[in-house]
Amino acid sequence: MKQHICVLGGSGFVGQHLVSELAAAGHEVIVPSRHPERHRDLLVLPTVKLVVANVFDPTDLQTLFKEQDTVINLIGILNERRDNGEDFQRVHVEFADQVIAACQSQGVSRLLHMSALNADAQHGTSYYLRSKGEAEDHVHNADKIDVTSFRPSVIFGPGDQFINRFAALLKIMPGVFPLACGQSRFAPVYVRDVARAFTQSLRMPASYGQRYNLCGPHVYTLEELVREIAGMLGLKRGVIALGDVASRLQANLLEYMPGKPFSRDNYRSLQMDSVCPEGDRILREVFGIAPASIETEVPHYLLNSVLRERYYEFRQLARRSARP
Ligand SMILES: NC(=O)c1ccc[n+]([C@@H]2O[C@H](COP(=O)([O-])OP(=O)(O)OC[C@H]3O[C@@H](n4cnc5c(N)ncnc54)[C@H](OP(=O)(O)O)[C@@H]3O)[C@@H](O)[C@H]2O)c1
Repeated sequence: MKQHICVLGGSGFVGQHLVSELAAAGHEVIVPSRHPERHRDLLVLPTVKLVVANVFDPTDLQTLFKEQDTVINLIGILNERRDNGEDFQRVHVEFADQVIAACQSQGVSRLLHMSALNADAQHGTSYYLRSKGEAEDHVHNADKIDVTSFRPSVIFGPGDQFINRFAALLKIMPGVFPLACGQSRFAPVYVRDVARAFTQSLRMPASYGQRYNLCGPHVYTLEELVREIAGMLGLKRGVIALGDVASRLQANLLEYMPGKPFSRDNYRSLQMDSVCPEGDRILREVFGIAPASIETEVPHYLLNSVLRERYYEFRQLARRSARP
């Protein structure tokens, strides 16, 4: 049945894939954004409305939730300005509380909440994981709302910040690539599989109150993944997995670089493997999805981005504008 759905964070990487999936299933979707002009491509989807809003303002949030059947909260950050947990607390925990209050005041009884694998309010190894765990506990304890939480390992797919970031670094670093936390293990999950699990849960009362770990079909160390990306790009790079002291040192240095490519809190998150104890069974058995793998999906978008770069280089050589 068609639903009215507000997707908070619908303009982000996961959000864009999820919003297309929801639109394809015939749902009416509202996506609030701080910068709607940057996400005009969402407007080609016929049932999607992109609106400017400050979702951290309770009044804006209540207005957005009016007459919605479901709210999906994807808003999250991977890094904060200072290393003290305050931004994570505000964006993950306090914002989850605001979402609960606005759902309750507008009579929205269904909430899909994006968490993260290893999120744990007490035992999480980083501010990120503890705040994600606390937010998850808050939404599951809310009255009058049927909540489903999703706890993915790292997510890959077109537009991701994971594979694409390592690809970009590999391209600019000649020779040897020094990699922090190279022995940390992941079970990367494909963004479209995550989007399909969210979409399917809308019509699954059995998913109410559940917290689902989402993992892809294979487990890799970070070092294996980076070597795989270099291989897909046809780059000959020596990957040197740094030991613990050097990894911590790298986190301490990159913490202060613009855009924080790696932070002390990222280092702390990587002290725990991001691997599901149940493997990829949740996707397969609960949602009936055969999870896609890095090997089948990544070459499509990585190689596309390489071709796009070459096209811009040719345009530049031909003295046309570098980029549209
Ligand atoms: N990507 C992964 O590998 C992964 C793995 C596990 C869990 N997760 C979780 O999945 C969720 C979505 O991740 P993503 O990779 O799609 O993130 P993303 O690309 O950074 O998207 C986040 C979206 O939230 C919106 N937003 C609004 N206010 C914000 C604020 N104050 N700070 C940050 N964002 C704000 C942004 O929209 P506007 O800029 O348009 O306002 C942005 O499009 C997050 O909760 C993340 O923790 C991600």
